[in-house]
Amino acid sequence: MIPATMPVWAQHRYGGPEVVALEQVPVPNPGPGEVLVEVAASSLNSADARLLRGDPALIRLAFGLRGPSPVRGRDVAGVVVAVGPGAGPGAGAGAGASPHAVGDRVAGELPGGGLGAYVVGAASALAAVPASVPLEVAATVPLAGGTAWQALDAGRVVHGSRVLVVGAGGGVGTFTVALAAHRGARVHAIGGARSLEVLRGLGAEEVADHRSVDLRTWAPDAFDAVVDVVGTTPLRTLRRLVRPGGLVVGVGGGTDRVIGPLGRMLAGAVQSVGSTRRFRPLAARTDAALTARLLALVADGLTPPPIERTWPFDEARAALAHIDAGHTVGKIIVTGAVW
Ligand SMILES: NC(=O)c1ccc[n+]([C@@H]2O[C@H](COP(=O)([O-])OP(=O)(O)OC[C@H]3O[C@@H](n4cnc5c(N)ncnc54)[C@H](OP(=O)(O)O)[C@@H]3O)[C@@H](O)[C@H]2O)c1
Repeated sequence: MIPATMPVWAQHRYGGPEVVALEQVPVPNPGPGEVLVEVAASSLNSADARLLRGDPALIRLAFGLRGPSPVRGRDVAGVVVAVGPGAGPGAGAGAGASPHAVGDRVAGELPGGGLGAYVVGAASALAAVPASVPLEVAATVPLAGGTAWQALDAGRVVHGSRVLVVGAGGGVGTFTVALAAHRGARVHAIGGARSLEVLRGLGAEEVADHRSVDLRTWAPDAFDAVVDVVGTTPLRTLRRLVRPGGLVVGVGGGTDRVIGPLGRMLAGAVQSVGSTRRFRPLAARTDAALTARLLALVADGLTPPPIERTWPFDEARAALAHIDAGHTVGKIIVTGAVW
């Protein structure tokens, strides 16, 4: 039976992990086209830490000047426990995503927040999880896997491409390496020392520690694409590494506390004018059909990034502190409150 109230980790102002606290709130009712999901697992991303802190300041314009929506945890996997009008089987929940029924295992990006016992969201934002894929694993896929896939598409990475992934150790980076290797690309990966064995295991041919490597000394024109996940290396250095006609894809970057990656993305666009080594900033979109496709790859044997650590729901604040510190290797999980 669905209870009247549920625990959530909520924030009511921007700040570090200390601003979140356990609260009891009403369980929401799914509206038209929505479903209520009992959360089995939520995977945290650096985006959760940025929203927690409102950093860079520019995002406060989009998410609220005083604070964002209260519950973090965008990546969610769980079981549908209630269906709103127009969201059930046969209702046509949206292109590429199947409508869902009570009891269905689902995963997707739900802005309502995974750090609660239940979350309500659009049925069209959720993908069905294949029976062989554990819900904890499914929760790692939507945001990081979707971003990685779109970055590889933006870089035109195909079988035989030589691709360099800079900042490969975290969620997006490890998915980028795994999916590039799955496409048959030849992958070089630069990550932290703790991530190098993981990156080899995901299919990287060559790995290097970002604290000891100097990309200015690497041979020019060596790659068809560079996927830059962290944005700390000068763009000029990265563009020199791709062959004429090659692409540098900007996924993350820029340490500016006000405008975040915007300055770097604009600089890259300007530098690309008239150049044969172009920079492409990525603005990844939420895509349930892509989540479904990636979950199918996992069901078919793709090795997903490892889960570095799983926290029980009651310790979600520690998980937020971990993602906030910025040293995650692979993915991290918070389990559901009633799971
Ligand atoms: N463009 C888009 O649409 C989009 C979508 C999603 C995410 N993003 C961005 O993508 C970035 C990654 O997100 P995420 O959730 O995957 O982060 P994450 O999991 O928190 O990534 C942490 C990892 O980054 C590594 N790292 C930090 N600085 C590094 C450097 N200078 N060189 C190499 N590795 C470094 C860390 O290694 P160490 O422990 O060694 O420091 C750690 O393994 C963020 O900037 C995020 O905002 C962009």
